[in-house]
Amino acid sequence: MIVKDKTFKKYISKEELEKKIKSLARLINSDYKDKKPLFIAILNGSFMFASDLLKEINIDCEISFVKVASYEDMESTGNVKQLIGLNENIFNKDVIIIEDIIDSGRTIAKILEEFRSLGASTVEVITLLQKPKSKNIDVKLKYVGFEIPEKFVVGYGLDYDGLGRNTKEIFQLKE
Ligand code: IMP
Ligand code: MG
Repeated sequence: MIVKDKTFKKYISKEELEKKIKSLARLINSDYKDKKPLFIAILNGSFMFASDLLKEINIDCEISFVKVASYEDMESTGNVKQLIGLNENIFNKDVIIIEDIIDSGRTIAKILEEFRSLGASTVEVITLLQKPKSKNIDVKLKYVGFEIPEKFVVGYGLDYDGLGRNTKEIFQLKE
């Protein structure tokens, strides 16, 4: 598959994704059977994963969506991330954050910090994909679909420069 100027090869099939998502949902259905979790999906990348995951959740739950806006800080040179679109009261809620991929782990660390400061009762993370870099930083990922190598992937919600999200499989950059 060609996305923009790069070639990608098939990496995780539709069947593998379905199987993994079912097994992750089974864990959540059992871990949260006496709770009523609030899922928060991080847009845009997690929209397909969130949709397929929630179809397999059979306990009472809510779902909402937020975006992470990045902007350059004037004072520091760092990239500042800010959550936008959080209208829910998350005080005392059991929050499960849905991510597509964790790379360095910096985005999720920032999101976790924000949710904890808003008084959620518990905050856990489910990510479809995890890259190795994030293993060095101190973020607890409760549910991980696939641990993948340090190579760029697209499809099933994940993009390359805004393109390539609209596939049923995940593709990996061919070199
Ligand atoms: P982190 O802060 O480095 O963990 O950044 C994670 C974010 O980077 C994800 O939410 C994606 O938007 C993006 N990202 C990281 N690796 C990939 C990839 O292989 N394909 C597409 N997006 C990626
Ligand atoms: Mg993302």
